[in-house]
Amino acid sequence: MLDILLISSDEERAGRIAALVTQENAGHRLRTIRAGASRLGEHRESAQKADLLIIDDVHLAQRDLAAVEAIAASTPRLSCLLVTPSLSQDWLVAAMRAGVRHVLSWPIDDASFASELALIAQKKSAGTGRDSRMLSFVSPRGGSGTTFIAVNLAYALARERGKRTLLIDLSRQFGDAHLMLADKPPASTLVDVCSQAERLDGAFFETCAMHVHPNLDVLAGSCDPVKATDVRPAQVERLFSLVMPRYDAVIVDLGRSVDPVSMLALDRSSDIGVVLRQSIPHLHTGRRLVDILRELGYPGAKLRVLINEYDKSATVDIATLEQALGLRVAHRLARDEKHAGEAVEQGTPLLEVAKASPLARGIDALADILWPEQPEASTSMFSRLFASKPAAAPMRALKAES
Ligand SMILES: Nc1ncnc2c1ncn2[C@@H]1O[C@H](COP(=O)(O)OP(=O)(O)O)[C@@H](O)[C@H]1O
Ligand SMILES: [Mg+2]
Repeated sequence: MLDILLISSDEERAGRIAALVTQENAGHRLRTIRAGASRLGEHRESAQKADLLIIDDVHLAQRDLAAVEAIAASTPRLSCLLVTPSLSQDWLVAAMRAGVRHVLSWPIDDASFASELALIAQKKSAGTGRDSRMLSFVSPRGGSGTTFIAVNLAYALARERGKRTLLIDLSRQFGDAHLMLADKPPASTLVDVCSQAERLDGAFFETCAMHVHPNLDVLAGSCDPVKATDVRPAQVERLFSLVMPRYDAVIVDLGRSVDPVSMLALDRSSDIGVVLRQSIPHLHTGRRLVDILRELGYPGAKLRVLINEYDKSATVDIATLEQALGLRVAHRLARDEKHAGEAVEQGTPLLEVAKASPLARGIDALADILWPEQPEASTSMFSRLFASKPAAAPMRALKAES
């Protein structure tokens, strides 16, 4: 059952939405405000009490999104659905920045409306389940060690800390995370799961995930970047809603993607590991990535800069990186070509190859940082309170460049 607040500038459309809500589930509670989105600020308190805010205004202006953003930031459990005649890419990004995660266009298709509402209801009920956490890893450049860190951290949480862990390869470009854990092809990939999202339930997911350790499952990434473009945010949201109550830890390898699909993971993540090396290209692209993440509303406190292959004599030292990024480095991992290479070649976790190596111990220390024994109150709620807004927003570069 959802508590829904609809703000609609048109009586006929409001009636149509009300009919759709009842059709989806007569138990939903709907309150309707007949006004344009510019009046949303006046109804802030009502919106904050709802599970879902539906905004229907054909004349929606960019400035109206500020009110949406303020409400979404102060009410992280509130879902926002925008109904609009058409939406350009720029608008979509602006809406997402404001906290909108559900968008439908007029005329509303019954099935799409029902599936969005079902997803929102799932999200609501998932919040009452197991107290699980998601951690995401992203890098502005390929070859930084993002997958290596995500995989080995997942293994450390599963094996050393007994956490029921799921690793999701969401990188969508030649997914390779599973290759670092098992020497066998995956039964299914992210694309297969998403393309059948409507039949996704616990039993189906069990058949799709690779079981690489009693405590560690892997959802392999797409081996085909073209097919991966079919993966839709709503499908991924459904996947997350299903898996979050089933695992203690969900580790997501985002590769270099920052887009509407990976933002679903970023939103849910308590921590976002930004993997960098000490080089000038990493310095520049890392800065850009951090700016984009901040622009999208992820607070600095959630961004964990991880320096891989740390070199104390590198020209780009930690102080230079910290100054450029405006963030402290959370952790450094040693360079260990021998053991990292062996682990990757054999498709075996580093912990199994060289448990006592400085790199394996560094991964273990990272698990302590990201998953302290007595975790603090979860910071997974989407917060924009510290969002900075540089004047020249690099919003078009949604995919971090290499
Ligand atoms: N700390 C490290 N020391 C040595 N080699 C590493 C280290 N971390 C990662 N590697 C190697 O770097 C390569 C690229 O890592 P990968 O995780 O695939 O990068 P990304 O996912 O960022 O593209 C891998 O073959 C891995 O063996
Ligand atoms: Mg990778």
